[in-house]
Amino acid sequence: SAAEKGGYDYFMLKEIVEQPRAVADTLLGRVGVDGTLTLDEMRLAPQELREISKIIIIACGTSYHAGLIAKYAIEHWCRIPCEVEVASEFRYRDPILDRQTLVIAISQSGESMDTLMAVRYAREQHSRVLAICNVNGSTIPREADGVLYTHAGPEVGVAATKTFLTQLVACYLVGLYLAQVRGTKFGDEINAVIEQLSRMPEQIEKVLGTVQPVRELAHSLSDARTVLFLGRHVGYPVAMEGALKLKELAYMHAEAFAAGELKHGSIALIEDGLPVVVVVPSREGRGVLHDKIVSNIQEIRARGAYTIVIAEEGDESVRPYSDVLIEIPAVPTLLQPIVATVPMQVFASELALAKGNDVDQPRNLAKSVTVE
Ligand code: G6P
Repeated sequence: SAAEKGGYDYFMLKEIVEQPRAVADTLLGRVGVDGTLTLDEMRLAPQELREISKIIIIACGTSYHAGLIAKYAIEHWCRIPCEVEVASEFRYRDPILDRQTLVIAISQSGESMDTLMAVRYAREQHSRVLAICNVNGSTIPREADGVLYTHAGPEVGVAATKTFLTQLVACYLVGLYLAQVRGTKFGDEINAVIEQLSRMPEQIEKVLGTVQPVRELAHSLSDARTVLFLGRHVGYPVAMEGALKLKELAYMHAEAFAAGELKHGSIALIEDGLPVVVVVPSREGRGVLHDKIVSNIQEIRARGAYTIVIAEEGDESVRPYSDVLIEIPAVPTLLQPIVATVPMQVFASELALAKGNDVDQPRNLAKSVTVE
């Protein structure tokens, strides 16, 4: 009913605006005033966590993109090698697993059969399994050693939105907690990130307040045949998520590339008027990547691309090469996906609306896929 949708025509639109609250709920009770993290439900003792020598993240769809982003954070903060794999590939390739391997299964529903089968396989091989899930008491957390619930509330729209942002937050919490427990050398950085993480709900609120031009843009592109997405570092999986959302909701061809790979092939696709969405890395820390992507934007624009640029507010360096500039708040590099994903969600849902598609129930898709 209209009341359930909180005045919106579709649950997905409501779920997009619920994201500040959802993220706040994921953080609730887990971050102490002094920056100590309490993740008791993980049921993995500090000693066990100190023994881990490798992490493998398994997931499907949007949850897989959360895993790809988590890898950057976990390896940087914890110095533990971290692989990410789509769950459906995992157990069929004879992966190397042992007691020192922590497998993290990310699943909104906790019921995706591909992920569940991967979890069972990992347990048979004596690895420890941590689930990151949204649905309480679902199958995957019941079969895992420990769980971190995202507490995003029920998500009805088939295309994941608030559960994705909260999965990111849960992954960051796991990474930061591991870094604290294992005492890696980034103490100050860890504390600064924990503080910034607590401010994410207001940052997402800020983005939501500035997305009106994204809606207009979406309507102007409803006849486009394809949209490309570019990013690098954590912006690369964000670009992948932007492309997936467009396929799911607007039934449009979309593809994401690591911006550094452009010159190795895909730049041949660029032609007059082709819309390209570019996620610009934050200027903090990895400024060098920021400058490299600005060159990429210049290169594709010189070849006719219609550039839609998502960049930090106040980043004047991209303005001359942006046909459309979408500003997001400046946040630490590793946390940027939390704010950069939001305009992509709005873009895809508005394009779907412009095409008259059912935003909550896209054709051929199910909210949770319980067959392999
Ligand atoms: C389905 C949904 C996707 C979702 C994927 C993984 O394919 O359509 O939106 O990302 O399953 O779901 P999970 O519940 O395991 O996160």
